Amino acid sequence: MTTHVPQALLDAPLSRERGPASLQRQLHDRLKHAILGATLAPGTRLPGSRALAEALGISRNTVTAVYDLLAAEGYLLPDRQGTRVAALTRPARTARTAQGKPVQHAAPAAPPAIARRLSPIQSEPAQTDGDAALRPGVPALAQFPLAEWRRALDRAMGRAGPSTLGYGNPLGEPALRRSIARHLSVARGVRCEAEQVVVTEGAMEALALCARLLTNPGDTVWVEDPGYRGARTAMHAADLQIVPMRVDAEGLCVRESDWAARPPRLIYATPSHQYPSGAVMSAARRLDLIAQAQRHGAWIIEDDYDSEFRHAGEPIGAMQGLVAQAPVLYVGTFSKTMFPSLRLGFLVLPEALAARLQAPLGQLLRGGHRHEQLALGDFIESGAFGRHLGRMRRLYRERQVALREALSRHLRVPHAIDGGHCGMHLTVRLPGEYTDARIAAAALRHGMAPAALSSFALQPSADDNGLVLGYGNTPAERFEALVKKLSQLARAAAADAV
Ligand SMILES: Cc1ncc(COP(=O)(O)O)c(C=O)c1O
Repeated sequence: MTTHVPQALLDAPLSRERGPASLQRQLHDRLKHAILGATLAPGTRLPGSRALAEALGISRNTVTAVYDLLAAEGYLLPDRQGTRVAALTRPARTARTAQGKPVQHAAPAAPPAIARRLSPIQSEPAQTDGDAALRPGVPALAQFPLAEWRRALDRAMGRAGPSTLGYGNPLGEPALRRSIARHLSVARGVRCEAEQVVVTEGAMEALALCARLLTNPGDTVWVEDPGYRGARTAMHAADLQIVPMRVDAEGLCVRESDWAARPPRLIYATPSHQYPSGAVMSAARRLDLIAQAQRHGAWIIEDDYDSEFRHAGEPIGAMQGLVAQAPVLYVGTFSKTMFPSLRLGFLVLPEALAARLQAPLGQLLRGGHRHEQLALGDFIESGAFGRHLGRMRRLYRERQVALREALSRHLRVPHAIDGGHCGMHLTVRLPGEYTDARIAAAALRHGMAPAALSSFALQPSADDNGLVLGYGNTPAERFEALVKKLSQLARAAAADAV
């Protein structure tokens, strides 16, 4: 039986300029579009390869190759009588203008549906390259010893063989896990063996893992309020019920009645340097929290994100090391001590959990980033990490003092400074008429990115108005001018509000 050649396949000549391979591709595309666009309806018989080749003036081999490919892709069904178009469910077609652009409807289409659990996740200002002055959370990028890091990477690559190109241990390179365990026990008083350490993609992955490994959807998590927005995001993404817990000068503030009213499965805290207020959780509160968590079967996530940089007094040890077998998952990051794009952090599991979670972690994680991990282990063991920390501690201390001086001289609005004994930021509280969100938005237009204190709060109170000023990546000589400008912006914000 001969089948005529459908007009849709003859509409335009095929271009011969790029040779037979291109002819094949053009014919394949033409047939495919005709099938997907329903010009060739399901069940339509196609002409034989000889007839189509003659009609298009191309070789029969080209047509046969295209039919074979379309049959392998499932668009055509060869049978004893020839070749038919397969029955396919076609995607809805977007209306297009004569120029081929999608038609704009007057009413915008409904946004695509995404998981309901993501709806409470607020949009945040885009974290770009961290160059804006006073942006919290960014370390002194220009001071990082890149040459030394490159040498560590070179050594790691030099020692690498084919086996290090495989996935690697899902929990991280054993050498790095050993280095982290040693560093934490000396620098932070954390009680752990390398087997308890899981290398993660920054603290953020560690927080997400805590939620994924220890909770079921709908479980309750207590989070500090105001607190780290990334922690809230991780908890929302795990479908947890978030209970905001106020923070005062002694850190996370829990009343006896809270344990009965909304018993948590997880508690997120930054005991050594509350983010963003800078409060240090008192020993009494730490011990009480541990004891109550033990009693109620809750786990505490201790996010120890920047306490390597302590500026005054003795180092404050980690809560994890306070008592043996504490129900604490210790989370840390190299985003501050090294640099954020490294995306390496860690989770220290309590001993019993580490054993229990070996198998699920082995299935959930894939290892990888092995050369960076090996280089980081080398960087720590060679002493380069310790030297860098020492230099940065001195630098941040100087910047912190200089920022305080600039604030006391040039911030001409009533204010109170919180914390400042650790890390890379100061929190400046302002009276309510100096609306922090307005000041922060205006500051962005002047190359500054202080964060509005209210943006860290889940249930903002009158107290949660102020600015979180990062001094990690801003040289001290700029503070005077920056604070003068902030002062003007604060006064303008208050005047506009009247
Ligand atoms: C409280 C707190 N935890 C953790 C982190 C670090 O997260 P990551 O390691 O994912 O960069 C930050 C970053 O700013 C932070 O402020």
